[in-house]
Amino acid sequence: MVQDNSELSELQQQAKTRQNIIGEITRKFAAEDDGLKHALQAAKQAGLPEIQISPIQGKLLQLLAVACNAQRILEIGSLGGYSGIWLARALPVNGHFITLEINATHAELVRNAFAHAGVSDRTEVRIGKALDLLPLLEQEAPFDLIFIDADKPPYPQYLDWALRLSRPGSIIVADNCIRSGKGFEEPQDEGMAGIVAYNNRIASDPRLISLDLAIDDDYTDGFAISVVRH
Ligand code: SAH
Ligand code: DHB
Ligand code: MG
Repeated sequence: MVQDNSELSELQQQAKTRQNIIGEITRKFAAEDDGLKHALQAAKQAGLPEIQISPIQGKLLQLLAVACNAQRILEIGSLGGYSGIWLARALPVNGHFITLEINATHAELVRNAFAHAGVSDRTEVRIGKALDLLPLLEQEAPFDLIFIDADKPPYPQYLDWALRLSRPGSIIVADNCIRSGKGFEEPQDEGMAGIVAYNNRIASDPRLISLDLAIDDDYTDGFAISVVRH
């Protein structure tokens, strides 16, 4: 009993340590500006699910965009525009950001959020099913960074399109690829099947160098990051 309590408190202490670390990193490196805060508030007010990326993930997307000198960025799955604002802010003047969103209500919120954040000049929201919109983007390729964060079953198809619309040195990021370890197990549903297949593909495709990073939800979920090899 005493043993159990002390073990529990040690686990609680470790959880608290992790939360403190995440808080400190967020404050020091990934503070939200008014544009980001406004996008979150508007999305919440409209009743959208709170499934946007974390500030740390947003800052990592910016870092990756700058690392590959991104001028053109593509996002699949906009929600309320939160990740889009992080990405658009990493672009130089004349840079261009395109985000694909199936839900017209979400898309309208995204346009407002982008206007409020002052990034309307370099952003475009396209409404439709991503798999219908992606073939229309070949004229605008290559994209330097592609961020996949929409419905999970077609993740492997989104990867095919990302490879098609990229260049050597482009960076492909996909959210939610860990899912408490389910991203590496025998899938129990269609969504996880898409994620598991995505992980298997990026881990073995010779065109890519890839890594899953557990940086979200208390280190239980996160990004799959791939660079297209030269
Ligand atoms: N990237 C966002 C979160 C995206 S949530 C952020 O971090 O701020 C997933 C979004 O993908 C939702 O808005 C959903 O409507 C959209 N979506 C789902 N299926 C889609 C599809 N087939 N094509 C395009 N968008 C889709
Ligand atoms: C869900 C989707 C996401 O993209 C995410 O980051 C978290 C949750 C979901 O559909 O539940
Ligand atoms: Mg996500």
